[in-house]
Amino acid sequence: MKLRRASNRLRKRASRGFGLILPIFFIVQAALSQAVVSQPVPDGKAIFEEHCSKCHGDQGQGISAVVSIAAPCLQAEHNPGKVIAAVELGPGHMPSFASTLSMPQIHAVADYVTQHLAVIPLENGNIGQGGVLFRQYCASCHRTAVRGGALAFVGTNAPALTDFSGAVIAGAIRWGPGPMPAFPRAAITDQQVASIVTYIKYAQHPLSPGGSALNWYGPVAEGFVAWVGVLALIFLTVWIERGGKG
Ligand code: HEC
Ligand code: HEC
Repeated sequence: MKLRRASNRLRKRASRGFGLILPIFFIVQAALSQAVVSQPVPDGKAIFEEHCSKCHGDQGQGISAVVSIAAPCLQAEHNPGKVIAAVELGPGHMPSFASTLSMPQIHAVADYVTQHLAVIPLENGNIGQGGVLFRQYCASCHRTAVRGGALAFVGTNAPALTDFSGAVIAGAIRWGPGPMPAFPRAAITDQQVASIVTYIKYAQHPLSPGGSALNWYGPVAEGFVAWVGVLALIFLTVWIERGGKG
């Protein structure tokens, strides 16, 4: 009898407790959903400083670091779509942020890059002028057909420029990654940068009216292939000659 009374009292207390917990649960839930609704727009600058600047530099100017991963200059990146794609996919050595950042955060950092860090304009490029400037300033290291240095197989040489976006090319001109010199406005104007970019973008996919371009290794390689052909013909005639005599 005593026991039953005790258990009854316990049950009552428990149900009273439950009656208290439920409203508290609803209040907390309402507060949480309120917080989600009134959440402020993510701060693109803070996201950039937390996630991107260690590789791209605090102003997106690029880093040629040995310790951290070297990443290109972003100061000519005007297309938010490209930034969003890079942050989601993580090209090359860059990690993907698809699981670390929310979509609004990715949009906020893309807006920050394109509206605040992109200070190199890319307008009014002229392909002819770009070709002249490329031969003057870049070809000594990157060669005329933009396929990289004479020993383009070794990583330390000037790389082939076939895969770089316009933004990365313009950024590299101002930034000067690694052993490459930086070219300030006093040396190459903004409009001339745009011209060089226009030329390189064209040279990345040129027409090849003379047949196979032999991987664009240039006149030395083309001459070499011609000589190999001539030598092969000489050997062939000598061989036929021998065969005729023997
Ligand atoms: C671990 C270093 C690292 C971090 C962190 C990093 N990046 Fe990168 N990023 C790179 C590298 C390296 C590349 C060049 C990839 C390649 O080889 O194409 C790159 C390329 C890019 C490009 C493409 C440039 C182009 O036009 O081809 C964009 C845009 C970019 N990063 C933006 C960002 C943003 C925004 C963040 C922060 C959310 C970020 N990155 C964080 C290393 C990094
Ligand atoms: C003195 C030789 C030299 C000259 C001149 C030079 N470059 Fe470079 N360039 C390099 C080297 C070396 C690298 C590789 C740097 C590295 O990987 O750290 C490079 C890298 C680059 C890259 C790749 C950047 C990246 O993020 O990986 C681009 C684009 C580029 N150069 C464009 C140009 C253009 C355009 C010019 C002319 C205005 C030019 N370079 C002039 C030597 C040169």
